[in-house]
Amino acid sequence: MGRQADEQADERTGGQAGTGAGEKDPLVIFTPSGRRGRFPKGTPVLTAARRLGVDLDSVCGGRGICSRCQVQPGKGEFPKFGVTVAEDALSPVNDVEARYDRIRGLAPGRRLGCQALIEGDVVIDVPPESQVHRQVVRKRAEAREITLDPALRLLYVEVAEPDMHEPSGDLQRLTAALAEQWGIEDAALDFALLPELQKILRTGEWKVTAALWQPDEATRPRIVALWPGIHAEGLYGLAIDLGSTTIAAHLCDLASGEVVASAGVMNPQIRFGEDLMSRVSYAMMNEGGAAEMTAAVREGLCGLIGDVAREAGIGSERILEAVIVCNPVMHHLFLGIDPYELGQAPFALATSDAIDLSAADLALAPALPAPARIHMLPCIAGHVGADAAAVTLSEAPEKSEDLVLVVDVGTNAEIQLGSRRHGVLACSSPTGPAFEGAQISSGQRAAPGAIERVRIDPATKEPRFKVIGCDLWSDDPGFAAATAATGVTGICGSGIIELVAEMRMAGLVDASGLIGTAEQTGSPRCFSDGRTQSYLVWEDGESRITVTNRDIREIQMAKAALYSGARLLMDKLGVDHVERIVLAGAFGAHISPLHAMVIGMIPDCPLEKVTSAGNAAGTGARIALLDRKARAEIRETVKRITKVETAIEPRFQEHFVNASAMPNAVDPFPILRAIQPLPDVSFNTGGGGGDGTGSGRRRRRRSARDS
Ligand code: FES
Repeated sequence: MGRQADEQADERTGGQAGTGAGEKDPLVIFTPSGRRGRFPKGTPVLTAARRLGVDLDSVCGGRGICSRCQVQPGKGEFPKFGVTVAEDALSPVNDVEARYDRIRGLAPGRRLGCQALIEGDVVIDVPPESQVHRQVVRKRAEAREITLDPALRLLYVEVAEPDMHEPSGDLQRLTAALAEQWGIEDAALDFALLPELQKILRTGEWKVTAALWQPDEATRPRIVALWPGIHAEGLYGLAIDLGSTTIAAHLCDLASGEVVASAGVMNPQIRFGEDLMSRVSYAMMNEGGAAEMTAAVREGLCGLIGDVAREAGIGSERILEAVIVCNPVMHHLFLGIDPYELGQAPFALATSDAIDLSAADLALAPALPAPARIHMLPCIAGHVGADAAAVTLSEAPEKSEDLVLVVDVGTNAEIQLGSRRHGVLACSSPTGPAFEGAQISSGQRAAPGAIERVRIDPATKEPRFKVIGCDLWSDDPGFAAATAATGVTGICGSGIIELVAEMRMAGLVDASGLIGTAEQTGSPRCFSDGRTQSYLVWEDGESRITVTNRDIREIQMAKAALYSGARLLMDKLGVDHVERIVLAGAFGAHISPLHAMVIGMIPDCPLEKVTSAGNAAGTGARIALLDRKARAEIRETVKRITKVETAIEPRFQEHFVNASAMPNAVDPFPILRAIQPLPDVSFNTGGGGGDGTGSGRRRRRRSARDS
């Protein structure tokens, strides 16, 4: 409630409203907060709420025009509170409420908190939509709750008209009104709004609604939108995960915290290079290359913002903030900074701090209003970006009671290890694109027709599988008909992990990664493929899907990179096991923990302690968007994270060599072996190229760093 309106309320209540009122005064109990107090008769409900610190919204400052202060008074007996609420516990519906009900409609029983006056003991429920700082429900049991506390809010003000005798600017009278009516001192107006200011004030007859942005008390408040008259319609914000392959945007209602629309596009920078380092190379080798990529990603983002706003059916003028998370190279390219330094040791960032800019600064207008605010989360280090900071925000390893390993699996794996006791360590490890189905002979991106689940009978060595888009297993009746439209087209990342693991479990592949011959394995599906063996998964008139020994090598190298990053962090903490593992990222959501452990991609851990966090980076962006305190929190948390650079750690190479075996040449994996025996087979007949310790890995270490 605004200061002026509060004073008006005090006048109506004789200035005595407050919990210190007399014993005879009516008792007011708010739910769900349970806050209670006695107030003199005639006190507006909004005033009582405000005095008790009850979270009740108001845009108009109690003028009866915004309807944000709606409450639901109870009636009758409330034995829990020892209160009986009489019919006349609140003043009758007044003209303001009646008019509002006539024009906009009030739900049955609802009252406007700024108009209804307390006349007797009463229990008043504040419905979720009238709470500013309500809890946002997350879909799974999460590491942290989200409390709505956005950086943006709407404030209705009545501005003094210009006076010849006391000349002052319209802006100065607007900011004076904000100070007087809302206690907002020294508000700045985004320069892009100045040309419109005079028209808006006069159209609104000196009554306007301002969208005020203030991410923390230390930051000067800033007017980022202005509407004539009352504008009580909601504001929206975007949580954007700017990935090197895809860009995902979630449009959030800042009043409810809900995601109202989501959309994604391929990152248009892909045409300059599939992976990050090839984009860094493009920038190095081509004059103006970095600027070209900056323009491409900004253009792609503008198109995506238009899509997501259309999907939600809202005008983009109501989207006034975006929180963007991305890896360091994307961070630099998006901000228009040449990523040259990120391509070489010591991988120095131009800046690692959180950044606040306007949409105009980043050429995102007119997809967003020019003054809309863009918040970039801080980067953790040269290889561990704002996306990892967002994962930290979502998964809160620094608050975990048990030692948790958080792995965001992508072309780079971003790995964090920590707990409340240990603090948090972070590194990134170059896994390459094998987990996305790339560099795998029958590999493909996750799409309908791709094999995503696999089981191999340990006795017959026969495979069965599921493809994306069909719930049947390949040996179920009706599978052929059900997949007739998509076909069986290849193997996606989660499919290849299961396939390699199942081959290891069925004794088709040995610990070093060699596929056995038909004679060694007893399976005619193993066939000679040049100097090595391959395994036939599926064959029909349309397609033939096999796993080659080279495919297995690719997966071994990718998983070894991931595991050795995790192992290095464990070394640094002086531990030999982790208590919990969180797999983040879209891919992480589809990985089977058992299979990931069989190939030695993740450390030994009870299976029930391996969980998926889904798109934790996107969730972290959403948390930062909805709760401004989370931004301050992550800025501090990031400073305390210990960064480990895998490229300069001598033990990384040693761990990598050991981790090339499945599950591992030295780490015993006792928990895994207790639940899943692994056949002790060896297919190395001394023919070379098959011991899993040779040139393949050396090539990988180079290409991982070079890619
Ligand atoms: S506070 Fe705006 S209508 Fe009550």
